[in-house]
Amino acid sequence: MEPISAFYIAGLPRIFFGTGTFSGLHKIIQPYGHDALIITGGESLKKSGRLDALTLQLDQGKIRYRTVSVRGEPTAKSIDTIASEFRKTPVSVVVAIGGGSVLDCGKAVAAMLAETGSVCDYLEDVGDRKPSGAKVPFIAVPTTAGTGSEATKNAVVCDRSKSYKKSLRHDAYMPDAAVVDPELTLGAPRQITAACGLDAVAQLIESYTSTRANVFTDSLALKALLLASESLLPLCLDRKNDISLRGKMSYAALISGITLSHAGLGAVHGMAGPLGGLFPVPHGVACGKLLHPVMSLVIKKIIDENNIAAQKRFADIGRLLTVEAGGEDVFYCRHFLDVLHTWTQTLELPQLSCFGMTAADIEKISSLADSKNSPAVLSREEMNMILESVL
Ligand SMILES: [Fe+2]
Repeated sequence: MEPISAFYIAGLPRIFFGTGTFSGLHKIIQPYGHDALIITGGESLKKSGRLDALTLQLDQGKIRYRTVSVRGEPTAKSIDTIASEFRKTPVSVVVAIGGGSVLDCGKAVAAMLAETGSVCDYLEDVGDRKPSGAKVPFIAVPTTAGTGSEATKNAVVCDRSKSYKKSLRHDAYMPDAAVVDPELTLGAPRQITAACGLDAVAQLIESYTSTRANVFTDSLALKALLLASESLLPLCLDRKNDISLRGKMSYAALISGITLSHAGLGAVHGMAGPLGGLFPVPHGVACGKLLHPVMSLVIKKIIDENNIAAQKRFADIGRLLTVEAGGEDVFYCRHFLDVLHTWTQTLELPQLSCFGMTAADIEKISSLADSKNSPAVLSREEMNMILESVL
């Protein structure tokens, strides 16, 4: 039996999971102080009456609050604008309620309230300052099941004028609390459920098969993948209001955040990053489109290279997805690919040309991409081939 390899866990948020947990959010906010900054996304939270219910409870609890609504992906400009406005007023806690972009925006604002200058100064590969880790306490409340940002220690910031999507990262940026109420994901349009769900699936697969995978993340990732496999397709086909399935996907997304933070990601995310920096492709769509072609090539390479350990990892996932027993690892690797193909075909994500990408852009994207912690490193030519297939 192999010994357990060394691993490091940066920390986890306090996690409040379950249907109805949103109604207790005011009690979770209260211990952090009496001046809350609430960041939300579009109108749905207001329309549902949930925002009014929360603010009424905050009023009753004598917690002062200000609300800011944000749209689209977080940009350096939007984060700097919010941070500079609220540095002048007391903020004891930042609460972000929304999809992955809103959570990332809130996470970056909570950090920048405690720093000086622009968020650009602190971005990986962009700025020349290291984040100190100081921040205002941050509570993440996801309304989609996707990025797992409620349990990650980075915020992705986009500047398409400079063609980048880069991370603001520090162990201390793990949210102080994650409030995951699957009810908040009810009503999400099919294409959002599909794209966000495939992002979570990609994150679980890539962290389980990462060269940095460890015993802690392994045990979490496999169970979460099983739950995602039971729920994603039915939610997108004919059971979108099934709260039990919504719960499974919300759990899978939460766990994907924990596993990616502690085991890393692979070539799907290594390519989706630059793709999203150059074109307005939603992150989940980029990951969903790349998932099957990237995994097909990675599995072909680990078989060709006789990488038994990596084959076993993909086979573990394949075994989860079938009742057929007794096959060799290679059989289950192929079964895993068949299932992925069915999922991505059924979910009908748009081609990347819909977002302005052309064949002339392929070289530029692959020049900026990398394989991250994939068990097989993809060459520029291989990435070009993959990008051609999803154009
Ligand atoms: Fe992702």
